[in-house]
Amino acid sequence: MKKTLVLKVDLQEPEIDKVRIAAEFIRKGGLVAFPTETVYGLGADALNPEAVRTLFKVKKRPLDNPPIVHVGHAKEVHRLAEEASPKAESLMKTFWPGPLTLILKRSEIVPDVTVCGLSTIAIRMPRHNVALALIRESGCPIAAPSANLAGKPSPTTAKHVLHDLDGRIEAVLDAGPALIGVESTVLDMTVDPPQILRPGGTSYERLKKILGTVKLHPIAVADKELTVEKVRSPGVKHKHYAPDADVIVVEGKLSAVVNKVKELAEFYMCKGSRVGVLATDETVGHYKADVMKSLGSRHDLPIIARNLFNLLREFDLEGVDVIIAEGVPTEGLGLAVMNRLRKASGYKIVRASSD
Ligand code: TXA
Ligand code: MG
Repeated sequence: MKKTLVLKVDLQEPEIDKVRIAAEFIRKGGLVAFPTETVYGLGADALNPEAVRTLFKVKKRPLDNPPIVHVGHAKEVHRLAEEASPKAESLMKTFWPGPLTLILKRSEIVPDVTVCGLSTIAIRMPRHNVALALIRESGCPIAAPSANLAGKPSPTTAKHVLHDLDGRIEAVLDAGPALIGVESTVLDMTVDPPQILRPGGTSYERLKKILGTVKLHPIAVADKELTVEKVRSPGVKHKHYAPDADVIVVEGKLSAVVNKVKELAEFYMCKGSRVGVLATDETVGHYKADVMKSLGSRHDLPIIARNLFNLLREFDLEGVDVIIAEGVPTEGLGLAVMNRLRKASGYKIVRASSD
């Protein structure tokens, strides 16, 4: 076990001496967790194959699921990618820095391990002063998957990072909770029309406005496990976002959802399970369970997104056996929230109907 250094930094104006300590670790091939606007990432020098190999090992990440490469300037894309189409350029202008990851054809300088041998690369420029300062001080693009153990809910605080990775990474830069709370949208620009492989912090609606046509890959909106003939979105077949507790998602019209959640909570409590209910402000008062938590108002999807992963982790800390979660509307950030919840449940989805 090594000692993981916790470096508290200011969100807006990160202290440069602390950022330099972290950057030095990255330059030497070490691993540093850092905040982005979406979730905390676990960073390694993207051009150092040994560092990226360590990254996979420490995260226990399967070797066929490449990380996102984070850049400090949009022009870095031209070094890492073979070409950026006019469409890609206009997305970069509109959405970077921000929660949008573009899949482009990779260039020769990218080590195979960083892209898991694929001919494409995932790139984004985060909208977070700490992340940008770290990338710029390190002087290299930073490969960073979310800083959780593979399969677990993504970390939205430094505490979550330490829970999963304390003693296994060099340092964590702690600038408080991540603002968006779900990961970036992954958009495949190697196909026409562009296709969303993972819904996230940049909504489908906003992308559609800029692109005209944008497709949602079936995986991005799946409400059951799909077999993907050609795995364009690597990693989709692996377990994701799952707390230790079992998760059941209840979807449908709100009044029917409330009744079904009540019924399931009672059923599992009668069986002797410790039951958690993941509700919303409007509904939480209706339930009786061992642990009840609200994601926020159903009318405030950004708040719901911000709270999601933290609450899933809290249920585990409170020793819950099963979490019964209400579905939320799939517009805006709700599409990303439902994608994560459905995956966390392993697609254990109950449809509530009023008859
Ligand atoms: O917001 C985020 O995106 C966070 C922060 C840290 O930036 N990062 C993140 O990374 O969520 P990760 O590694 O947990 O998720 C990366 C996603 C995975 O779904 C992976 O399959 C996909 O990007 N991906 C990476 N390279 C790809 C490629 N060449 N083609 C298609 N999908 C790719
Ligand atoms: Mg992840």
